[in-house]
Amino acid sequence: MKIIHKKAELKALIKKQTGSIGLVPTMGALHAGHKSLIDKAVSENDFVVVSVFVNPVQFAPNEDYDKYPRTLDKDAILVQNSGADVIFAPAPDEMYTDIYFKEKETTLVCAPYKYVNRLCGKSRPGHFDGVCTVVSKLFNLVHPNKAYFGEKDAQQLFIIKKMVEELDFDIEIVPCPIVRENDGLAISSRNSYLSEYDRKIAVNISLALKKAKELYASGIKDSQVLIDTVFSYLKEFDVDYIQIVSKEDFCPIIKADKPPVMLIAAKTPENHVRLIDNMEL
Ligand code: PAJ
Repeated sequence: MKIIHKKAELKALIKKQTGSIGLVPTMGALHAGHKSLIDKAVSENDFVVVSVFVNPVQFAPNEDYDKYPRTLDKDAILVQNSGADVIFAPAPDEMYTDIYFKEKETTLVCAPYKYVNRLCGKSRPGHFDGVCTVVSKLFNLVHPNKAYFGEKDAQQLFIIKKMVEELDFDIEIVPCPIVRENDGLAISSRNSYLSEYDRKIAVNISLALKKAKELYASGIKDSQVLIDTVFSYLKEFDVDYIQIVSKEDFCPIIKADKPPVMLIAAKTPENHVRLIDNMEL
């Protein structure tokens, strides 16, 4: 396994490949959730690149860009043990030119407003443009046949699929199921910010989703009833959103006849860690 920091070196190595290429884009601080994507990529491709890059363009100025965990040495062990071939870990100034660092501007890939003005995009303006931009750059550098994304970030996965379709990228997007801790908490690099108490009650988010799934199966299809039930599990949290959307267009639905997706974003009471989770009902 090779760690590459420079685009030119990556491009040269990609040029030499004759078999299929898999890409797993990450921001590092790798955990079992990321590992599931890497394992799938390794099982389906001849050559696998894992990118580790905390992308400044997808963070707003008030967000956790500076304190986001950076653990490349540990990440390298996980990637090596998974059997992937390359970690691409560029510095910010390898990915963006001077104008970004001087004026906070770069050429952006912008997803339609309809997709980004809701859910996470509403409380994180510009976030998905940053994601689409960096993912497009990675696609252009790696030319993967397949790229792997987690259902944990359901809105991100939806937007990336749309981007690939609308910008004619010849890449298959492979969705990967959410990996959870034993108690049900969705694994996330940001879980390391949780206080002991936050961690204890963080489980309520997945418990609430499971309850909604049970109620839906028992015949309750009214979104507001399901949302109210979930809200009662999250009284101690600062809830950003609880929404039920259709799988087809990610738009909110009032009465869900086809199994929809329920999504939650909420900040924990002590360390105000913003956790997201979702479940198909
Ligand atoms: P990051 O948060 O590091 O996540 C990288 C990938 O791992 C994403 O596709 C995410 O959905 C997936 N993932 C994270 N936790 C998971 C879990 N518990 N189960 C399954 N998959 C999980 O998402 C990003 O980075 C960035 O926005 C990125 C796409 C790399 C662009 O910068």
